Amino acid sequence: MIDVIVLDFGSQYTQLVARRLREAGVYTEIYPYHTPTETLLAKNPKGIILSGGPASVYAKDAYRCDPALFNANLPLLGICYGMQLLVDTFGGAVVAAKAQEFGKAHLELLEPHPLLEGVEDLSVVWMSHADRVESLPSEFIALARSANAPFCAIAHATKPLFGLQFHPEVVHSAQGAQILKNFALEICGCRPSWDMQAFATQEIAKIQQKVGTDRILCAVSGGVDSSVVASLCYKAVGAQTEVVFVDHGLLRLGEKEQVIQMFETLNIPLHVIDASSLFLDRLKGVSAPEVKRKIIGNTFIEVFEQKAKELEQGGKIKYLAQGTLYPDVIESVSVKGPSKVIKSHHNVGGLPEKMDFVLLEPLRELFKDEVRALGAQLGLPANMLKRHPFPGPGLAIRILGAIDDDSLEIVRRADAIFIQALHDAKLYDSVWQAFCVLLNVRSVGVMGDNRTYDNTLALRAVCASDGMSAHFAPLPFDFLESVANQIINKVKGINRVVYDITSKPPGTIEWE
Ligand code: XMP
Repeated sequence: MIDVIVLDFGSQYTQLVARRLREAGVYTEIYPYHTPTETLLAKNPKGIILSGGPASVYAKDAYRCDPALFNANLPLLGICYGMQLLVDTFGGAVVAAKAQEFGKAHLELLEPHPLLEGVEDLSVVWMSHADRVESLPSEFIALARSANAPFCAIAHATKPLFGLQFHPEVVHSAQGAQILKNFALEICGCRPSWDMQAFATQEIAKIQQKVGTDRILCAVSGGVDSSVVASLCYKAVGAQTEVVFVDHGLLRLGEKEQVIQMFETLNIPLHVIDASSLFLDRLKGVSAPEVKRKIIGNTFIEVFEQKAKELEQGGKIKYLAQGTLYPDVIESVSVKGPSKVIKSHHNVGGLPEKMDFVLLEPLRELFKDEVRALGAQLGLPANMLKRHPFPGPGLAIRILGAIDDDSLEIVRRADAIFIQALHDAKLYDSVWQAFCVLLNVRSVGVMGDNRTYDNTLALRAVCASDGMSAHFAPLPFDFLESVANQIINKVKGINRVVYDITSKPPGTIEWE
């Protein structure tokens, strides 16, 4: 049974709300903002959360949920846009803020309330809004304010309706998780009963039910996500799952051999396809990042379809299982609400419109660290679970501009040096992800009394907890210096190494 329903108005953070609730053991599902009230109520939720969103409630075509929801006598919490919608519906005023408020604010508590139980006065909260509540509807009271927002937390005097102007779901809101927990456990009366074991059992049952006697092609990359999906599918329907690994010619040094070895350890049969010349031919001369991503996405599907045909003497392969995660989804397409596209992650936005498969994406609503916890639950080995994420388009999005054999060789060799150095210095596990980017920017250097005019390589290492936001990793200078020296000395074609100190946002983790 669902504990809490989150209605999605298009916030980049909607899944984080669900995730915080899962951390509190509360089972949550997300639905589009326009889902009819009777459909929602038929699911018997104990509470509803309205997410944030990029729109303005006073705009002519603002996204609105069915107003009947506010009279359903169900606890309801509006976050940011969700709170502004609540205020607007009850006759308060929402206006464009004179100064937009993004980032840190301090929550000044005005009234004791179960929603804010255990929250310290002046604790840090994260704001991200261009509109503000100018006046509250008469039935509402303010529970907290900040320097720039007089109505930071609000409650209806008699109905179980609440609003927060800030984002309790982001980690930067110091006690935000506590507030969401208060809402779910104290106000909605949910009992913590959800955990990764429950998720694994539920997903295995869902796969069994959906797939029945059909067959699945499960595409793996050797990364945590697709390996977890392969393991889930295998546990669900056994040999009805055909696990396929495609060498697209954009892998790192020794990667293919490692993946083969890994699946041997897992005792899951693996089909290895060498499609490198097909991918590399199609990418020849292509430099626009989105075009590269789409070519790779399309080619992957073609290769899978071809393989499925070959395997079809054992019965038609209906499903394609992929390790798509939530951050891939939210940045590629609008999930359940009207959110903005950031880039086409290959296993989502890069897919062709028509394909011969029905997609199976059991991790679509999870974040990386949750997938690692799920993998541990399924018994995957620790070294596999700790592998840094590696994007589906591989080194293609780590070579800026067009790709050729020489640039691939440079990135492969440099990357191997950087990653080995991180292992040797026991720094590998302290960063979310580390890699090299070939910039295709040439500069002048001097080596052995000779002038060089060679390429620049960027080292990128970031700390993150879910990949939605990230901070560049503060790697020690002497470590960076040693890596740069090794690369310049050992990798022909590089005469300059730089370290990327951009966080996400405003950067993304990958450069393309
Ligand atoms: P960005 O660059 O969007 O990356 O900040 C966030 C995380 O996603 C990974 N990434 C991808 N993973 N297919 C994938 O499977 C993709 O197309 C893709 N693009 C980025 C990236 O490595 C980082 O961990």
